[in-house]
Amino acid sequence: MIFYVNGRYVPREQAAISPEDRGFLFGDAIYEVVRFWKGRPYHLSEHLERMREGLDAIRIEADPSFLPEVARRLLAENGLADADAIVYVQVSRGAAPRTHGFPPKGTTPTVFAFARASDAPPPDGGGRAVLLPDERWGRCDIKTVMLLPNVLAAQTAREAGAMDAILTRDGIAWEGTKANLFCLSGGILRTAPNGPRVLPGVTRAAAIEAARRLGISVEEHPISIDELLASEEAFFASTTLWTYPIVQVDGKKIGDGRPGEIAERLKEELRREFAGVQVSG
Ligand code: PDD
Repeated sequence: MIFYVNGRYVPREQAAISPEDRGFLFGDAIYEVVRFWKGRPYHLSEHLERMREGLDAIRIEADPSFLPEVARRLLAENGLADADAIVYVQVSRGAAPRTHGFPPKGTTPTVFAFARASDAPPPDGGGRAVLLPDERWGRCDIKTVMLLPNVLAAQTAREAGAMDAILTRDGIAWEGTKANLFCLSGGILRTAPNGPRVLPGVTRAAAIEAARRLGISVEEHPISIDELLASEEAFFASTTLWTYPIVQVDGKKIGDGRPGEIAERLKEELRREFAGVQVSG
């Protein structure tokens, strides 16, 4: 596997990052995960924009416009030019002796990226989720690598036999550990509005647009836990999952306990759009 590190394409054994890198020491870094199909990126400009905003928000002076070329070369070098693949890219504030405040001006950000084949899609039957307290910081809209609360919640979910956790705070079911959350409630599709408690997901935005194209009413409104548990349908949305049905939450069936129709229709719509086929209506 060939990795990209600070301008060089190198085999894994040579893909070294300084032990003083602030991404490693402090989680002081921004990342993105972009999906490619046969070398074509899915909503690349939205990923670039989100990365730019993230870097600005945490005041790392770096321009993510290297991404398209680095992604193209990584896909080629790793034999993924014709594959369904993801490219991971991370920009940290760079390497410097450890001190909490920013390093001296002129410290170069560390840029790291890799490509790999997309994971096999999860089974068709939908997944179970568990509700867990959202222990993340107050700026979940920034895609930082500081993911420990997500990691711990994902592991707790796994140990409970669930596919993921749904993170809750103040009675609201905000999102999964690595995906946005939607539910169908009284025939209206709901997802939390963009704001500090959720990541502004690229798939989330595409799913909202696709739903509107299909004539489905959408409201960007926080989903209360009670509403989620009483909903007709629920699903996750992310770059790696598209839309994926949640059939049970904390042991309670969602709808009739089978994958919902809207999640399936949206997945088809998103994938059609990705494949470049004209979408009707
Ligand atoms: N996760 N919410 C969180 C907390 C996420 O980490 C992600 C993405 C999403 C969905 O965003 P998008 O549709 O832009 O992928 C929502 C990526 C895939 C990850 O960490 O692997």
